[in-house]
Amino acid sequence: ISLLSPSNQASQTVTGHIDDCTCDVETIDAFNNYKLFPRLNELLESDYFRYYKVNLKKPCPFWNDNSHCGIRDCAVKPCPTDEVPNGIRSASYKYSEEASNHAEECEEANRLGAVDESLSKETQRAMLQWTRHDDSSDSFCEADDIHSPDAEYVDLLLNPERYTGYKGPDAWKIWNSIYEENCFKPQNVKRPLASGRGESLILLSGVCIEKRAFYKLISGLHASINIHLSARYLLQDTWSEKKWGPNVTEFQQRFDEVLTRGEGPRRLKNLYFLYLIELRALSKVLPFFDRPGFQLYTGNKSHDAEIKNLLLEILHLAKSFPLHFDENSFFAGNKKEAAKLKEEFRLHFKNITRIMDCVGCFKCRLWGKLQTQGLGTVLKILFSENLIGKIPESGPSYGFRLTRQEIVALFNAFGRVSTSVRELENFRNILRNMQ
Ligand SMILES: *[C@@H]1O[C@H](CO)[C@@H](O)[C@H](O)[C@H]1NC(C)=O
Ligand SMILES: *[C@@H]1O[C@H](CO)[C@@H](O)[C@H](O)[C@H]1NC(C)=O
Ligand SMILES: *[C@@H]1O[C@H](CO)[C@@H](O)[C@H](O)[C@H]1NC(C)=O
Repeated sequence: ISLLSPSNQASQTVTGHIDDCTCDVETIDAFNNYKLFPRLNELLESDYFRYYKVNLKKPCPFWNDNSHCGIRDCAVKPCPTDEVPNGIRSASYKYSEEASNHAEECEEANRLGAVDESLSKETQRAMLQWTRHDDSSDSFCEADDIHSPDAEYVDLLLNPERYTGYKGPDAWKIWNSIYEENCFKPQNVKRPLASGRGESLILLSGVCIEKRAFYKLISGLHASINIHLSARYLLQDTWSEKKWGPNVTEFQQRFDEVLTRGEGPRRLKNLYFLYLIELRALSKVLPFFDRPGFQLYTGNKSHDAEIKNLLLEILHLAKSFPLHFDENSFFAGNKKEAAKLKEEFRLHFKNITRIMDCVGCFKCRLWGKLQTQGLGTVLKILFSENLIGKIPESGPSYGFRLTRQEIVALFNAFGRVSTSVRELENFRNILRNMQ
């Protein structure tokens, strides 16, 4: 049973139970906002977690990116594809007034959405060493080749995820192709229900609980991104000052029950679902980080030890959360079914990570890639429970590994979701005070 706050029209935010879980929103809010979020934030400000290597120059593998705002140094793409002619920056183009407006929009978008690539010399040196400490390859993501000359480190703290003015038509196209072509939509499942051994995985709807979960995870990610864009909206933009802050109208357009015809509260529930799944992965992966030999290597021993302690504190906190999913209901079918499911998840999810290279706005692409790699790492962890259980207390972990990139993505992605839950409380308060 799920309850939406019944009393007023202005604050349709979710309360009550989350589907497929014995959890309620209020417990998660209190746990996240006052215990986990502050520590996680501190962790993410550390050197280990703030630098992420990414290739933002990979071409979109699925369709022709023919909007010329998407060219390399125009970071954001606010111009409708069909209105932007070739050679947007060519001199002749500037003579048409309408066209020059578009060019200005592009420049403006560039200014707001550009990825700041500045790193200090010391950081660059440390990066070289980090790379040497990296482990094996990963599985759920089409990970960037971090040795490619096009892959560059970015400082995530200098590049916050926020409203960039990005309203390109491809935002719609991207989410549409994710939902329609890559999400196990119930009506697309034509395979007959498995009989016999696989039955525990199959629900009456024809979609097993894990596949329904997949869809909800993607929807939760989408909701989380939209909460950030509403919470860090460009409210004021003058020469002297730029101000980002919450835009309630934007929030309501995406989440209000009436304005979204009931979709908004469902999206928010999926956000909480995503939160719980990520939290569960963190609690499961503790043995990997808890080994004495594991380091969060930046080259400063005492600092590295401090950050590792903070990390372990967070993981223990995640483990202490009382309302995890029923162990038997997720990713826990018989071995053969589970292996098949894992493979399907892997292929679908990998494809979604490739779609991220089609995001026009560079800053959105950066956070899209990071968050999908983080979620991919979550899936990798959840499907590797047995391997994690076998990690020896000392010595290297051969069966299960995470690269530095995966670790950074995992925690930063969770940081985004955690921030969304926190920001939701802020929106609730604002809406309450508006009554
Ligand atoms: C990957 O995604 C693209 C774009 O949505 C889609 O056209 C394609 O069929 C997908 N491929 C697989 C193997 O799922
Ligand atoms: C808030 O967002 C709406 C669009 O949802 C926009 O029309 C409005 O101008 C924004 N408000 C501010 C103060 O920027
Ligand atoms: C190493 O980290 C410690 C603790 O965070 C800090 O006090 C110290 O200044 C750092 N040393 C260097 C050389 O950066």
